[in-house]
Amino acid sequence: MKALVLSGGAGTRLRPITHTSAKQLVPVANKPVLFYGLEAIADAGITEVGIIVGETAEEIREAVGDGSRFGIDVTYIPQEQPLGLAHAVLIARDFLGDDDFVMYLGDNFIVGGITGLVDEFRRERPDAQILLTQVPNPTAFGVAELDADGLVVGLEEKPKEPKSDLALVGVYLFTPAVHEAVRSIEPSWRGELEITHALQWLIDQKRDVRSTTIRGYWKDTGNVTDMLEVNRTVLETVEPAQQGEVDEDSEIIGRVRIEPGAKVNGSRIVGPAIIGARSVISGAYVGPFTSVSDDVRIEDSEIEYSIVLRGASLAGVRRVEASLIGRDVEVTPAPRSPSAHRLVLGDHSKVQISS
Ligand code: DAU
Repeated sequence: MKALVLSGGAGTRLRPITHTSAKQLVPVANKPVLFYGLEAIADAGITEVGIIVGETAEEIREAVGDGSRFGIDVTYIPQEQPLGLAHAVLIARDFLGDDDFVMYLGDNFIVGGITGLVDEFRRERPDAQILLTQVPNPTAFGVAELDADGLVVGLEEKPKEPKSDLALVGVYLFTPAVHEAVRSIEPSWRGELEITHALQWLIDQKRDVRSTTIRGYWKDTGNVTDMLEVNRTVLETVEPAQQGEVDEDSEIIGRVRIEPGAKVNGSRIVGPAIIGARSVISGAYVGPFTSVSDDVRIEDSEIEYSIVLRGASLAGVRRVEASLIGRDVEVTPAPRSPSAHRLVLGDHSKVQISS
């Protein structure tokens, strides 16, 4: 069995984080979302992994390399334009050969991995297996309609009037039956070869398409509330470790991971939290559910339930909560007089000021 991971797509600027143009590299608990997918694939015993790359190929290659640190062997498959998920399967034909495969969308996050699903698929070998999850906003997804016995009878891509609230999750299991399907369909209204249509084609051909409904799913949608929530969930499972320097005047409570080269002086850190490599926390309070990335400075400040990206600094600020601080951002108090907020905010920024 092989894996096909989709990390192509246009290099659109992420709302609200513009730290990278590859949405698959958005960090969750200081690790790119794509890495969780690659780890889940490796855990399921799959080692041959094809990664579809597009405009952001460089960034993805730099982050993933040859895959050896995940225990996988990566083949990069360039896609000239994001012509759809089924198009990705078309161009990966040489890599996939006649093997079964799991297709994994690189911007999807599945709590608990995919090992159980892959094992079940290996045993049962239906023509295709999809994952579904209940979502509050089905119009933003592929949506499945099930009959009374739970069999998939229809699939629609981003329907205006969804027939259910069961969204297609970005993990699909296929036998080689999918190759005829992707060759048989036409581009959709948005000009893409949709995998949803390939699946519908298989259903229309009376092929065996099964579904499993899961919980614990997240996809980057640029929504900070959701991102903080998934960060919270993952931090709860992070292995505590103290690889940096913590001085005697500091207090570390609960599940806290301090990465190599980090320095904590005269500070209180209450987990679950991560302090990234080479970050300096000085005279500060870092509260639960906070991910502090690498090379960050937090001095004389308090922060909780937040994500701070690489190179940012907070000095003399009380109290930051439920926030996403972008790369190389500086947060400092304004001079006492005149009493005013002084802001330099990037495109699509959102600020809530408590005064
Ligand atoms: O995330 C789940 C949803 O993914 C499903 O519910 C939908 O049925 C499915 O069509 C897909 O919808 P999106 O429109 O949200 O897919 P997106 O364009 O975000 O692409 C998903 C991933 O695949 C992303 O990591 C980029 C990559 N990609 C996408 C396209 C269109 C490629 O590598 N090549 C492509 O041509």
